[in-house]
Amino acid sequence: MIESVSLNEVSTEVMSLMKSGIFLNTRFGSIDNTMIIGWGGILFHWGKAMVIVYVRDVRYSYQLLEAANCFTLSIPIQTDLKKAISICGSIRGEGVNKFALAGLTTKEARTIDAPIIEQCPLHMECKVIYKQLLDKDHIPEDILNRYYSPGNDSMHIAYYAEVVDIYRTRKDV
Ligand SMILES: Cc1cc2nc3c(=O)[nH]c(=O)nc-3n(C[C@H](O)[C@H](O)[C@H](O)COP(=O)(O)O)c2cc1C
Repeated sequence: MIESVSLNEVSTEVMSLMKSGIFLNTRFGSIDNTMIIGWGGILFHWGKAMVIVYVRDVRYSYQLLEAANCFTLSIPIQTDLKKAISICGSIRGEGVNKFALAGLTTKEARTIDAPIIEQCPLHMECKVIYKQLLDKDHIPEDILNRYYSPGNDSMHIAYYAEVVDIYRTRKDV
């Protein structure tokens, strides 16, 4: 089954699940990958329904995202995906089929060229329309010390992406 839903309908559900991790799926050419994001938001900006996600420039997904400019979010509502979240949130996908490693299978997204995760019941398809490297000079010192330790040059890129499709694929969870 596929049931289209609106961003308003699912925004509370998505935001409450964000902290424990949701799958961000990317594709470039023949390479599919997934990572876990725990930071992000839903917003209305420039008259569009959007999500914002934060991906560090050291992630393999960053390279795919930069090339593809689109991604899907697969939202794991059931708790039996904890192990998969832990694998996909800790292993780098370069040269590895992380989906298989985590026991996940994929299907094609409806609107964009990217995979979705079959085990998740809710999916958002997103096209990047703006991005910005976070500026260390504008981050409070306590946060800098906590998340961007000295000697670690990695930084988050904020991706603003228009939500072009949202749907449920399962109702059993
Ligand atoms: C709960 C959780 C939340 C995470 N949130 C983010 C995030 O918002 N941004 C980010 O860049 N990495 C985040 N990570 C880390 C990445 O998912 C992890 O480094 C992953 O292995 C990257 O995969 P890749 O290198 O194949 O892209 C999170 C990990 C977990 C477990």
